[in-house]
Amino acid sequence: MRTSTDAGADTAVRYRAFAEVEARGLSACYEAWAAGVADDPEVIARIDRLPPATRQPNLVFSAARFHGAPTGGYGAFRAWLTANWAAVEQTCRSHATQTNEPGRCAALLPALGGVRGPLALIEVGASAGLCLLPDRYSYRYGPAGASAAGGAGAAGRLDPLDGPSPVLLDCAVTGAVPVPSRLPLVVWRAGIDLNPLDVAEPADVAWLDALIWPEHDDRRARLRAAVQIARRDPPRLVRGDLNERVEALVAEAPAHATVVVFHTAVLAYLDDAGRDRFAATMGRLHRERAVHWLANEGRTVVPGVAETLPVTLPVASGSADFVVSLDGRALALAQPHGRALHWLGERSG
Ligand SMILES: C[S@@+](CC[C@H](N)C(=O)[O-])C[C@H]1O[C@@H](n2cnc3c(N)ncnc32)[C@H](O)[C@@H]1O
Repeated sequence: MRTSTDAGADTAVRYRAFAEVEARGLSACYEAWAAGVADDPEVIARIDRLPPATRQPNLVFSAARFHGAPTGGYGAFRAWLTANWAAVEQTCRSHATQTNEPGRCAALLPALGGVRGPLALIEVGASAGLCLLPDRYSYRYGPAGASAAGGAGAAGRLDPLDGPSPVLLDCAVTGAVPVPSRLPLVVWRAGIDLNPLDVAEPADVAWLDALIWPEHDDRRARLRAAVQIARRDPPRLVRGDLNERVEALVAEAPAHATVVVFHTAVLAYLDDAGRDRFAATMGRLHRERAVHWLANEGRTVVPGVAETLPVTLPVASGSADFVVSLDGRALALAQPHGRALHWLGERSG
């Protein structure tokens, strides 16, 4: 029989691993907080009163920052958390981690450019729908290691038809990334989410803001700019499970458009049966209705995609890299927030 002490040990291990593996090098604040929690039985005991799925560091820390926890060392955080635990607990119970990262459009764009338009985009697991607007952002693809300002030549710069966007996505590329010469023509778009967030709702935007790690100020600025763009013409989002809703949405897309169903950082939320069901649906929609399936997910998350990866991957690629796949075949490795893209094959034209 498992005891509460076992649960506390599990939680401590989880927070220690988060500090040492996930946060190290990316957030000194979260590394300090997670390491502090791992060694703090009193705080662990509070966290262990939450349902198991809501004990994860990302959710607890985001909830704390949503309510104003001071960033910095563990001592000040602990004092704040102890005084404000009731609010943090309530937010952990009512909210989920659903980071919306428009930077991921930079990983999707070269694959989208290979699909004949005009396009009807359907994003499953859309959060607030900011990745549904790839035609409203500017892009700068440049060689890895080049500075953001001077890296890409004119050939790697893309802007919307009406001029440069306030959201400029820099992406360091390696391999023969087929950067398109223009942004895709998107004539219709819609998203599905279990809990769609509303760009017009300040509390939803504040939650998206809190989900971004403390030191990632560039991502925070990008989120705010993308929200402003989305507010001018918000994408349609339907509430529900992607497996239940995707076919009906495909049926609504205009007949003259090529439908691309895509997702980024979503399938990890599904169990194996849910992933298999979705892959089978996409395979059938591809065969029967020429729907394309574009995924940007962890290496082993999309059924069948890992088997299409080359045996030898670039030395620099990390196991945290996402795999961009089109219709079940791996095309590229992507940094999880779209900051870098490595194309796996030859340029197809
Ligand atoms: C990490 S967020 C990613 C959001 C967005 N795709 C991006 O990359 O910025 C994952 C989203 O998937 C949604 N989600 C998870 N499981 C889902 C399901 N079965 N059906 C629909 N949406 C789901 C969550 O609610 C959340 O908004």
